[in-house]
Amino acid sequence: MTKILKIITNPNKILRKKSKDIPLQNVKSKPFQDLLDNMAETMLKKDGVGLAAPQIGENIRLFVINTKVGPEFFINPVIIKKSWAKETAEEGCLSVPNFFGKVKRHRQVVVDYINRKNVKQRVEATGLMARVIQHENDHLDGALFIDIATDIHEFTGEEND
Ligand code: CO
Repeated sequence: MTKILKIITNPNKILRKKSKDIPLQNVKSKPFQDLLDNMAETMLKKDGVGLAAPQIGENIRLFVINTKVGPEFFINPVIIKKSWAKETAEEGCLSVPNFFGKVKRHRQVVVDYINRKNVKQRVEATGLMARVIQHENDHLDGALFIDIATDIHEFTGEEND
């Protein structure tokens, strides 16, 4: 049974810590696989495009992103290449609810990581996926989009009750 995890919101020290690498012998363990399922479920339920482990209280190098073919887990990710070209777009974050801002990111990145089957992967991402990877990877280093965003604004939408 998967469960929805509690999302930590800013300000909180956990969001500001540098996360640690995950020992790969743990990847196939049941508790770790359950954590992955719970993170994916939480991301989908909260309508996030990505979710990093510090956001659910774990300072480990792990994030999940929602791709066209379903959730993909990035364990111990390392961005090994960044395009010279950058792109600015609006971002938000489940840990900074209701705030949005414009963030300049590399248009293209190449990232090495371990997937949930404990297999080494290399992926080249462009556009939104490249943006999400950079945003989530920042979480692992204790950085939030509001640290680098411009035109930060609050949007709570219509209040209905
Ligand atoms: Co975020």
